[in-house]
Amino acid sequence: MERGEKIKALLASATARDAVCICGWIRQKRISKGIIFFNINDGSCLAGIQAVADESLTGFEELKKLAIGSSVRVRGRLAESPGQGQKYEIQAMAVDIFGDCDEDYPLQKKKHSFEFLRSIAHLRMRTNSFGAVFRVRNAAAYAIHEFFQENGFYYIHTPIITGSDCEGAGEMFHVTTMPLESIPMTRSASGAMGVDFSQDFFRTHAGLTVSGQLEGELFAMALSEIYTFGPTFRAENSNTPRHAAEFWMIEPEMAFYDLDDNIALAQRFIKQVTARVRDRCSEDLAFFAERIDPTLMDRLDAIDRHDFEVLTYTNAVRLLKESGKAFEFPVSWGMDLQTEHERYLTEELIRKPTFVRDYPLEIKAFYMRRSDDGRTVGAMDLLVPRIGEIIGGSQREERLDVLKEMIRSKGLDEAVYWWYIDTRRFGTAPHAGFGLGFERLLQYLTGMANIRDVIPFPRTPGNCEF
Ligand code: 4AD
Ligand code: MG
Repeated sequence: MERGEKIKALLASATARDAVCICGWIRQKRISKGIIFFNINDGSCLAGIQAVADESLTGFEELKKLAIGSSVRVRGRLAESPGQGQKYEIQAMAVDIFGDCDEDYPLQKKKHSFEFLRSIAHLRMRTNSFGAVFRVRNAAAYAIHEFFQENGFYYIHTPIITGSDCEGAGEMFHVTTMPLESIPMTRSASGAMGVDFSQDFFRTHAGLTVSGQLEGELFAMALSEIYTFGPTFRAENSNTPRHAAEFWMIEPEMAFYDLDDNIALAQRFIKQVTARVRDRCSEDLAFFAERIDPTLMDRLDAIDRHDFEVLTYTNAVRLLKESGKAFEFPVSWGMDLQTEHERYLTEELIRKPTFVRDYPLEIKAFYMRRSDDGRTVGAMDLLVPRIGEIIGGSQREERLDVLKEMIRSKGLDEAVYWWYIDTRRFGTAPHAGFGLGFERLLQYLTGMANIRDVIPFPRTPGNCEF
């Protein structure tokens, strides 16, 4: 069928022409002096195009009744517009109606809150704000692949169903085909009752992945530089504007990198992705700066202009203590930094993206490389204003004996990780990697305050509709 041109392409190349054709949805309609003015949008860009129909048009009376939200194809002449607000308009010569719109269509003219729009997530992408969000999301995903592909990294698909809890934090969703109303139980050697996973589909406990890192590491031990980009799942019960139960993560993993190399790569990566998105989504970002977050452009400029700060955890704790600020969680060495601390550091003290490195061993995952001081590990988090942590990463423990000790000391079962431990026996090598939370990056790039508003269909505690 004839789909015609995308409105974005039409507006970009506009010169008066006799025959153009577009398809889209009616955003606005106005009738004045026997002429109908439609604003039609096809989602290809923020702007729609105005189509003008007069009485000479076949089906004019039907068009007059056509509701906002209806879908149409317009053929006509592209001409300079005498009206305000647009350079060109389409003087309609034929309008085909694909679908009329019922009168309870919720996206009538008036503004809606983001909360309300979440409850109609099947339609919210038809609004200016969410059209822009999802175009930026697309551009960011593309720019991320570009960065790694241009730098010789291989894209690896790590499993979504897995038996291993990478972070060891016990936040996996279970995957089972056992009948929920009568889960088979069994007595273990120690006499305790537990679920009899031998009767389950995989004959073992399985869950949705919380991170592709461990499998990514195996590939880095063969292809040197790899990345993953896929969905991850965490059953943590955090109802915050920065946590989702299903989110996307980008996890590069590199053999022959130490923590400094890891930090340098992460900085280059964020800078390039930001620059490309700005290049390709300037109109959408300008919209966010105007409507959502007036500080957006300054923050994005700062990414481009300055190197990110690098701070040890120990120094971060010292700065927080010296600040004299009354935090809800008082600061002491050994604690995990809370969002309030991360935001104070990046928003008030340092005022730019900041890597915090060398965290206490006790609060970090088993795979991070133990430092010579015996109290810290080679971890790094990237903290940014307004959001806090967007990247978590580390140099990995490549020494077999230390790794086993770490697994035991975290109360984990060595047997479960046998394949991971094997890489430390068969040609181990220093390596490092990090994970970027894709939605948190999008929050940073758009200024959207809530993670639910940068995911097509957010999954959070109590929410799994659509
Ligand atoms: O810091 P995290 O837990 O690190 C890892 O998963 C490592 N395995 C990564 C690696 O080294 N390969 O998570 C990484 C990032 C966080 O910095 C955050 O941006 C995001 O993932 N993230 C979440 N985003 C949304 N909702 C959640 N519940 C998130 N949990 C983590
Ligand atoms: Mg983290």
